[in-house]
Amino acid sequence: MSSGSPVLSIGALEVGVRRRRGSQAIVRGVSLSVAAGEKVGIVGESGSGKSLTMLAVLGLLPPGLDILAGRVEFAGEDLTKAAPVRLRQIRGAGVAMVYQDPMRSLNPLLRVGYQIVEALRAHGYDARDARRRTTEVLGMVGLADVERVSGSFPHELSGGMLQRAMIAMALAASPKLLIADEPTTALDVTIQQQILELVASLQAQTGMAVVWVSHDLGVVAQLVDRVAVMYAGRIVELATTRRIFQRPSHPYTAALLGSLPRPGTQHRGTLQQIGGRPPDPASAEQGCPFRPRCKYATERCAAEPVLSVRGAEQQAACWLEPGSWST
Ligand SMILES: Nc1ncnc2c1ncn2[C@@H]1O[C@H](COP(=O)(O)OP(=O)(O)OP(=O)(O)O)[C@@H](O)[C@H]1O
Ligand code: SF4
Ligand SMILES: [Mg+2]
Repeated sequence: MSSGSPVLSIGALEVGVRRRRGSQAIVRGVSLSVAAGEKVGIVGESGSGKSLTMLAVLGLLPPGLDILAGRVEFAGEDLTKAAPVRLRQIRGAGVAMVYQDPMRSLNPLLRVGYQIVEALRAHGYDARDARRRTTEVLGMVGLADVERVSGSFPHELSGGMLQRAMIAMALAASPKLLIADEPTTALDVTIQQQILELVASLQAQTGMAVVWVSHDLGVVAQLVDRVAVMYAGRIVELATTRRIFQRPSHPYTAALLGSLPRPGTQHRGTLQQIGGRPPDPASAEQGCPFRPRCKYATERCAAEPVLSVRGAEQQAACWLEPGSWST
């Protein structure tokens, strides 16, 4: 794991709908630091608040949603107070994001190479350097025929090639942090694996930090040093990948591990095997949010536990004593 001052520091972040009376939080009290060069995974079921947390970091929340409280610091600068022009500078050159849907980054009407050149020019590259760098990054992401890809419109490329082109665009201005929000979910398994290996090798070459968002703990485990498990808008466990697999400290993490395919089988378990459904993170229900699905719940769980230290490299939000339950 890398040390040193964090490239990203999120503190007590609340995201939700701002109302004059009683704002409604969806992301609740999320704190997470990512060191320079570190790889961190954010894992949780659909609707747990993974994307909203990351969109809040970049100042890209959808209309109607706001940062209600907390701070987001990038290289020591508070982004919640940054002007829009400053946020635009940081996006791309400081923090870049790749999405599940490449068309969120790529304009369908413009050739791929042109889009990367223009993105670089917006970050101060002159035309010649922008063209040189575009060819370089399209090569870095393993696209064989760089000239052809560069001159193509997005719809002329396959899903896997599009993902590579989007990653090339994200890497172009050498960000210190890459946020990958489920970029492989829509791809078939072989291409998914290729993209995972690509990001891992680019991370090793460039030394950038990576936040990898996924609903699949198995995918994330291949890539990251630490994992934050999200449930109903909160981080319920934060630990090194090794600790998460050796000794999960939250029943939800244990259930996620239980839904992973066994070695040697093709079967991919789903989180539905946990039983029940995740709550709406905006619900005003009191107590531990996992309580309705938790087989260890007691009366104490009517109060919500906070994230607390469970060992050298592990924090969890659960009332159970470490070691008092088995998975
Ligand atoms: N624009 C919006 N307005 C109101 N609520 C929203 C909006 N976007 C998302 N939400 C709600 O916020 C919650 C968290 O959404 P988010 O997209 O962060 O989940 P996620 O963990 O990324 O899920 P997925 O794995 O499906 O991408 C969800 O319950 C969703 O319904
Ligand atoms: S606090 Fe209680 S309900 Fe929540 S995960 Fe722990 S044991 Fe289960
Ligand atoms: Mg999402």
